[in-house]
Amino acid sequence: MADHEKHHHHQSGNVADLFTQETWDARYGESDRIWSGRPNARLVEHAEDLEPGDALDVGAGEGGDAVWLAGRGWRVTALDVSPVALARAAAHAAEAGVADRVSTLHHDLMTGAPLPGTYDLVSAQYLHPPRERFAELLGLLGAAVRPGGALLVVGHHPEDPRMKERGGHRHPELLFTADQVVAVLPADIWDIRVADEPAHDTVVLAVRRA
Ligand SMILES: C[S@@+](CC[C@H](N)C(=O)[O-])C[C@H]1O[C@@H](n2cnc3c(N)ncnc32)[C@H](O)[C@@H]1O
Repeated sequence: MADHEKHHHHQSGNVADLFTQETWDARYGESDRIWSGRPNARLVEHAEDLEPGDALDVGAGEGGDAVWLAGRGWRVTALDVSPVALARAAAHAAEAGVADRVSTLHHDLMTGAPLPGTYDLVSAQYLHPPRERFAELLGLLGAAVRPGGALLVVGHHPEDPRMKERGGHRHPELLFTADQVVAVLPADIWDIRVADEPAHDTVVLAVRRA
């Protein structure tokens, strides 16, 4: 889902501001819905074959992925820094009849605090952490994955031509390659099942060794 890069105008040039509640509440507050509501294609492709269990959607936004996962039998925690987004995620879960399997968690990833709980799937879709905290934050996500569980990291690839058409991503240094993700996942802990760069995206699926 790349539409979000259209909504640039109120973001300042400061990278740290891209990850605050203030920024995201303002952005979500600009319209009733900023995403399509449909699940991300990369999630659908890679989670379809996983046995449902407990999932954590990091940067869940309005809950499109969380609702889809819940519909497939997952118990989902939708985590986001924006309470505005989380209220929408809860409403969408209720509309879809899966409210009993979706809970929301207001959490700021940038605090560096450990994520509460452990999960069979931790998914981060189009969350592009600050470069200098990339390893740390992916480590936090990975630490929340149970043995045998999966970490799915999806982002825009730095060569994404759609970003170029729009005059470039505002912070191109935040976009990452599959190699950059794999490099921060210790090989003794993670079995890399997918490290791919399909059409504009970066996709890494890693399973925590038992
Ligand atoms: C680009 S959007 C992606 C939303 C959704 N995953 C999707 O693919 O449509 C990034 C999301 O990360 C959230 N976010 C940004 N900074 C965060 C932080 N510090 N902690 C937790 N979530 C954050 C935003 O509120 C936003 O919902």
